[in-house]
Amino acid sequence: MESPVFAIANQKGGVGKTTSAVNLSAGLAANGIDTLLIDLDPQANATSGLGLEKEEGTSAYGPLMGEGTLSEKIVESGREHLFAIRSERDLVATEVELPRDEDYLFRLKGLIDAVREEYGFGAIILDCPPSSTVLSLNALAAADYLVVALQCEYLAMEGLGEILSMQKQIKEGGVNSNLEVAGILMTMFDIRTNLSNQVVSEVRSHFGDQVFSSVIPRNIRLTEAPSFGQTIFEYEKSSSGALAYEKLAQEFISRFGLKPSKGE
Ligand SMILES: Nc1ncnc2c1ncn2[C@@H]1O[C@H](COP(=O)(O)OP(=O)(O)O)[C@@H](O)[C@H]1O
Ligand SMILES: [Mg+2]
Repeated sequence: MESPVFAIANQKGGVGKTTSAVNLSAGLAANGIDTLLIDLDPQANATSGLGLEKEEGTSAYGPLMGEGTLSEKIVESGREHLFAIRSERDLVATEVELPRDEDYLFRLKGLIDAVREEYGFGAIILDCPPSSTVLSLNALAAADYLVVALQCEYLAMEGLGEILSMQKQIKEGGVNSNLEVAGILMTMFDIRTNLSNQVVSEVRSHFGDQVFSSVIPRNIRLTEAPSFGQTIFEYEKSSSGALAYEKLAQEFISRFGLKPSKGE
Protein backbone atom coordinates (compact mmCIF):
# COMPACT_ATOMS: atom_id res chain seq x y z
CA MET A 1 0.00 0.00 0.00
CA GLU A 2 1.25 3.47 -0.88
CA SER A 3 1.70 5.68 2.21
CA PRO A 4 -0.42 3.72 4.69
CA VAL A 5 -2.11 5.96 7.26
CA PHE A 6 -2.13 4.87 10.91
CA ALA A 7 -4.35 6.66 13.45
CA ILE A 8 -3.14 6.24 17.02
CA ALA A 9 -6.30 6.64 19.00
CA ASN A 10 -8.23 6.04 22.18
CA GLN A 11 -11.05 8.14 23.54
CA LYS A 12 -9.16 8.33 26.85
CA GLY A 13 -6.41 10.83 27.50
CA GLY A 14 -3.11 9.99 29.15
CA VAL A 15 -2.83 6.44 27.81
CA GLY A 16 0.34 6.93 25.76
CA LYS A 17 -1.01 7.92 22.33
CA THR A 18 1.33 10.84 21.81
CA THR A 19 4.37 9.12 23.32
CA SER A 20 3.73 6.25 20.94
CA ALA A 21 3.05 8.45 17.90
CA VAL A 22 6.31 10.35 18.41
CA ASN A 23 8.55 7.40 19.19
CA LEU A 24 7.06 5.00 16.67
CA SER A 25 7.48 7.69 14.00
CA ALA A 26 11.07 8.27 15.10
CA GLY A 27 11.72 4.52 15.12
CA LEU A 28 10.38 4.11 11.59
CA ALA A 29 12.39 7.10 10.36
CA ALA A 30 15.54 5.68 11.96
CA ASN A 31 14.97 2.61 9.80
CA GLY A 32 15.03 4.76 6.69
CA ILE A 33 11.27 5.02 6.24
CA ASP A 34 10.02 8.46 5.21
CA THR A 35 7.47 9.13 7.93
CA LEU A 36 5.01 11.98 8.31
CA LEU A 37 3.65 12.59 11.80
CA ILE A 38 0.50 14.72 11.85
CA ASP A 39 -0.31 16.26 15.22
CA LEU A 40 -4.10 16.51 15.45
CA ASP A 41 -4.34 17.31 19.14
CA PRO A 42 -4.81 21.03 19.89
CA GLN A 43 -2.63 20.45 22.96
CA ALA A 44 0.26 19.98 20.52
CA ASN A 45 2.20 17.56 22.72
CA ALA A 46 3.62 15.71 19.72
CA THR A 47 4.75 19.02 18.22
CA SER A 48 6.60 20.10 21.35
CA GLY A 49 7.79 16.56 21.99
CA LEU A 50 9.68 16.75 18.70
CA GLY A 51 11.11 20.09 19.79
CA LEU A 52 9.16 21.99 17.13
CA GLU A 53 7.81 25.51 17.63
CA LYS A 54 4.08 26.05 17.89
CA GLU A 55 3.29 28.82 15.44
CA GLU A 56 0.11 30.44 14.25
CA GLY A 57 -1.05 29.22 10.88
CA THR A 58 1.05 26.05 10.78
CA SER A 59 -1.49 23.42 11.80
CA ALA A 60 -4.00 21.47 9.74
CA TYR A 61 -6.67 23.99 10.78
CA GLY A 62 -6.46 26.21 7.67
CA PRO A 63 -6.58 23.34 5.18
CA LEU A 64 -9.41 21.71 7.14
CA MET A 65 -11.35 24.95 6.82
CA GLY A 66 -10.69 25.06 3.10
CA GLU A 67 -7.65 27.34 3.09
CA GLY A 68 -4.66 25.89 1.29
CA THR A 69 -3.29 22.37 1.22
CA LEU A 70 -1.92 20.06 3.88
CA SER A 71 1.24 19.56 1.82
CA GLU A 72 2.30 23.15 2.40
CA LYS A 73 2.17 22.59 6.18
CA ILE A 74 4.73 19.76 6.10
CA VAL A 75 7.98 20.66 7.88
CA GLU A 76 11.24 18.81 8.39
CA SER A 77 11.61 17.63 11.96
CA GLY A 78 15.38 17.98 11.95
CA ARG A 79 15.77 14.22 11.83
CA GLU A 80 16.43 12.25 8.69
CA HIS A 81 13.27 10.79 7.14
CA LEU A 82 11.00 12.34 9.79
CA PHE A 83 8.54 15.04 8.75
CA ALA A 84 5.70 16.66 10.67
CA ILE A 85 2.59 18.74 10.47
CA ARG A 86 2.42 20.73 13.67
CA SER A 87 -0.53 21.54 15.86
CA GLU A 88 -1.56 24.62 17.80
CA ARG A 89 -4.59 25.88 19.70
CA ASP A 90 -6.50 26.92 16.59
CA LEU A 91 -7.39 23.26 15.97
CA VAL A 92 -9.90 23.54 18.83
CA ALA A 93 -12.12 25.68 16.63
CA THR A 94 -12.68 22.80 14.22
CA GLU A 95 -15.06 21.28 16.76
CA VAL A 96 -17.64 23.98 16.18
CA GLU A 97 -16.69 25.21 12.75
CA LEU A 98 -16.31 21.98 10.80
CA PRO A 99 -19.71 20.39 11.45
CA ARG A 100 -21.38 23.30 9.65
CA ASP A 101 -20.43 21.61 6.41
CA GLU A 102 -22.03 18.49 5.11
CA ASP A 103 -18.83 16.66 4.17
CA TYR A 104 -17.10 17.54 7.44
CA LEU A 105 -16.15 13.98 8.37
CA PHE A 106 -14.15 13.60 5.17
CA ARG A 107 -12.18 16.83 5.19
CA LEU A 108 -8.96 15.31 6.50
CA LYS A 109 -9.24 12.34 4.19
CA GLY A 110 -9.36 14.55 1.11
CA LEU A 111 -6.33 16.50 2.32
CA ILE A 112 -4.31 13.41 3.22
CA ASP A 113 -5.12 11.71 -0.06
CA ALA A 114 -3.64 14.73 -1.83
CA VAL A 115 -0.48 14.46 0.30
CA ARG A 116 -0.21 10.76 -0.56
CA GLU A 117 -0.49 11.54 -4.24
CA GLU A 118 2.13 14.26 -4.09
CA TYR A 119 4.69 12.54 -1.85
CA GLY A 120 5.53 8.89 -1.41
CA PHE A 121 5.70 8.65 2.35
CA GLY A 122 6.51 5.22 3.74
CA ALA A 123 4.06 5.82 6.58
CA ILE A 124 1.75 8.56 7.83
CA ILE A 125 1.02 8.60 11.56
CA LEU A 126 -1.88 10.57 13.06
CA ASP A 127 -1.67 11.56 16.71
CA CYS A 128 -5.31 11.85 17.72
CA PRO A 129 -6.85 13.93 20.48
CA PRO A 130 -8.69 12.10 23.26
CA SER A 131 -12.48 11.71 23.20
CA SER A 132 -14.66 11.28 20.18
CA THR A 133 -14.08 14.70 18.71
CA VAL A 134 -14.69 15.88 15.18
CA LEU A 135 -10.93 15.71 14.68
CA SER A 136 -10.58 12.12 15.84
CA LEU A 137 -13.54 11.10 13.67
CA ASN A 138 -11.84 12.81 10.74
CA ALA A 139 -8.68 10.87 11.57
CA LEU A 140 -10.54 7.56 11.59
CA ALA A 141 -12.24 8.48 8.33
CA ALA A 142 -8.84 9.18 6.75
CA ALA A 143 -6.90 6.22 8.17
CA ASP A 144 -6.23 2.78 6.75
CA TYR A 145 -5.38 1.44 10.18
CA LEU A 146 -6.39 2.14 13.74
CA VAL A 147 -3.70 1.61 16.36
CA VAL A 148 -5.33 1.42 19.77
CA ALA A 149 -3.06 2.64 22.56
CA LEU A 150 -4.19 0.85 25.69
CA GLN A 151 -2.80 1.50 29.12
CA CYS A 152 -2.18 -1.56 31.28
CA GLU A 153 -4.61 -0.60 34.01
CA TYR A 154 -7.76 -1.70 35.76
CA LEU A 155 -10.79 -1.77 33.42
CA ALA A 156 -8.62 -1.47 30.31
CA MET A 157 -10.92 -3.93 28.51
CA GLU A 158 -13.90 -1.60 28.91
CA GLY A 159 -12.17 1.28 27.18
CA LEU A 160 -11.02 -1.12 24.50
CA GLY A 161 -14.59 -2.23 23.83
CA GLU A 162 -15.62 1.37 23.37
CA ILE A 163 -13.00 2.25 20.78
CA LEU A 164 -13.47 -1.01 18.89
CA SER A 165 -17.19 -0.47 18.62
CA MET A 166 -16.50 2.98 17.26
CA GLN A 167 -14.17 1.43 14.66
CA LYS A 168 -16.91 -1.00 13.72
CA GLN A 169 -19.45 1.79 13.33
CA ILE A 170 -17.10 3.76 11.14
CA LYS A 171 -16.24 0.74 9.01
CA GLU A 172 -19.73 -0.67 8.65
CA GLY A 173 -21.58 2.65 8.67
CA GLY A 174 -19.92 3.64 5.43
CA VAL A 175 -17.69 6.41 6.79
CA ASN A 176 -14.55 4.41 6.04
CA SER A 177 -14.99 0.87 4.84
CA ASN A 178 -11.18 0.44 4.65
CA LEU A 179 -10.53 1.02 8.34
CA GLU A 180 -8.79 -2.01 9.85
CA VAL A 181 -7.48 -2.46 13.36
CA ALA A 182 -3.69 -2.43 12.96
CA GLY A 183 -3.31 -3.69 16.47
CA ILE A 184 -3.59 -3.03 20.15
CA LEU A 185 -0.56 -1.44 21.71
CA MET A 186 -0.22 -2.10 25.42
CA THR A 187 1.44 0.84 27.16
CA MET A 188 2.84 1.69 30.60
CA PHE A 189 3.40 -1.93 31.52
CA ASP A 190 4.61 -2.01 35.11
CA ILE A 191 6.83 -5.00 35.83
CA ARG A 192 6.40 -4.47 39.57
CA THR A 193 2.68 -5.16 39.60
CA ASN A 194 0.62 -8.25 38.89
CA LEU A 195 -2.10 -6.06 37.47
CA SER A 196 -0.10 -5.24 34.33
CA ASN A 197 0.47 -8.93 33.65
CA GLN A 198 -3.19 -9.72 34.24
CA VAL A 199 -4.35 -6.98 31.90
CA VAL A 200 -2.01 -8.06 29.10
CA SER A 201 -3.05 -11.71 29.42
CA GLU A 202 -6.72 -10.80 29.45
CA VAL A 203 -6.43 -8.61 26.35
CA ARG A 204 -4.30 -11.25 24.59
CA SER A 205 -6.78 -14.00 25.42
CA HIS A 206 -9.52 -12.01 23.67
CA PHE A 207 -7.58 -10.45 20.83
CA GLY A 208 -4.64 -12.81 20.26
CA ASP A 209 -2.38 -11.68 17.43
CA GLN A 210 -4.08 -8.32 17.24
CA VAL A 211 -2.05 -7.32 20.28
CA PHE A 212 1.40 -6.11 19.28
CA SER A 213 4.10 -8.33 20.72
CA SER A 214 6.06 -5.26 21.70
CA VAL A 215 4.64 -4.07 25.04
CA ILE A 216 5.72 -0.59 26.13
CA PRO A 217 7.04 -0.56 29.69
CA ARG A 218 6.44 2.23 32.17
CA ASN A 219 9.73 4.08 31.86
CA ILE A 220 10.53 7.45 33.41
CA ARG A 221 12.82 8.30 30.47
CA LEU A 222 9.75 8.34 28.19
CA THR A 223 8.20 10.98 30.44
CA GLU A 224 11.35 13.10 30.55
CA ALA A 225 12.31 13.08 26.87
CA PRO A 226 9.54 15.41 25.57
CA SER A 227 10.51 18.22 27.93
CA PHE A 228 13.83 18.31 26.08
CA GLY A 229 12.08 18.17 22.71
CA GLN A 230 13.73 14.81 22.13
CA THR A 231 12.56 11.41 21.03
CA ILE A 232 13.46 8.51 23.31
CA PHE A 233 16.20 7.48 20.86
CA GLU A 234 17.87 10.87 21.23
CA TYR A 235 17.29 11.17 24.96
CA GLU A 236 18.33 7.70 26.08
CA LYS A 237 18.88 5.14 23.41
CA SER A 238 19.57 2.30 25.83
CA SER A 239 16.45 2.82 27.98
CA SER A 240 13.78 0.14 28.17
CA GLY A 241 11.39 2.59 26.47
CA ALA A 242 13.71 3.05 23.50
CA LEU A 243 14.19 -0.69 23.10
CA ALA A 244 10.43 -1.26 23.18
CA TYR A 245 9.69 1.41 20.56
CA GLU A 246 12.50 0.11 18.34
CA LYS A 247 10.95 -3.35 18.56
CA LEU A 248 7.54 -1.88 17.77
CA ALA A 249 8.95 -0.12 14.72
CA GLN A 250 10.37 -3.44 13.50
CA GLU A 251 7.00 -5.06 14.06
CA PHE A 252 5.28 -2.37 11.98
CA ILE A 253 7.83 -2.73 9.19
CA SER A 254 7.27 -6.45 8.87
CA ARG A 255 3.53 -6.54 9.61
CA PHE A 256 2.64 -3.78 7.16
CA GLY A 257 5.46 -4.24 4.67
CA LEU A 258 6.74 -0.68 5.15
CA LYS A 259 9.48 0.28 2.72
CA PRO A 260 12.55 2.48 3.22
CA SER A 261 12.74 5.50 0.94
CA LYS A 262 14.62 5.14 -2.31
CA GLY A 263 18.31 5.74 -1.84
CA GLU A 264 18.41 3.91 1.50
N1 LIG B 1 5.51 4.07 28.78
C1 LIG B 1 5.45 5.15 29.56
N2 LIG B 1 6.12 5.19 30.72
C2 LIG B 1 6.04 6.27 31.52
N3 LIG B 1 5.34 7.37 31.26
C3 LIG B 1 4.65 7.40 30.10
C4 LIG B 1 4.66 6.29 29.19
N4 LIG B 1 3.86 6.61 28.14
C5 LIG B 1 3.38 7.85 28.37
N5 LIG B 1 3.84 8.32 29.55
C6 LIG B 1 3.52 9.60 30.18
O1 LIG B 1 2.14 9.61 30.49
C7 LIG B 1 1.56 10.87 30.16
C8 LIG B 1 0.47 10.68 29.11
O2 LIG B 1 1.09 10.15 27.93
P1 LIG B 1 0.70 10.68 26.48
O3 LIG B 1 1.53 9.93 25.51
O4 LIG B 1 0.76 12.16 26.41
O5 LIG B 1 -0.81 10.18 26.42
P2 LIG B 1 -2.02 10.64 25.48
O6 LIG B 1 -1.45 11.18 24.23
O7 LIG B 1 -2.79 9.37 25.29
O8 LIG B 1 -2.81 11.64 26.25
C9 LIG B 1 2.70 11.74 29.70
O9 LIG B 1 3.17 12.48 30.79
C10 LIG B 1 3.74 10.76 29.23
O10 LIG B 1 5.04 11.26 29.34
MG1 LIG C 1 -1.81 13.02 23.29
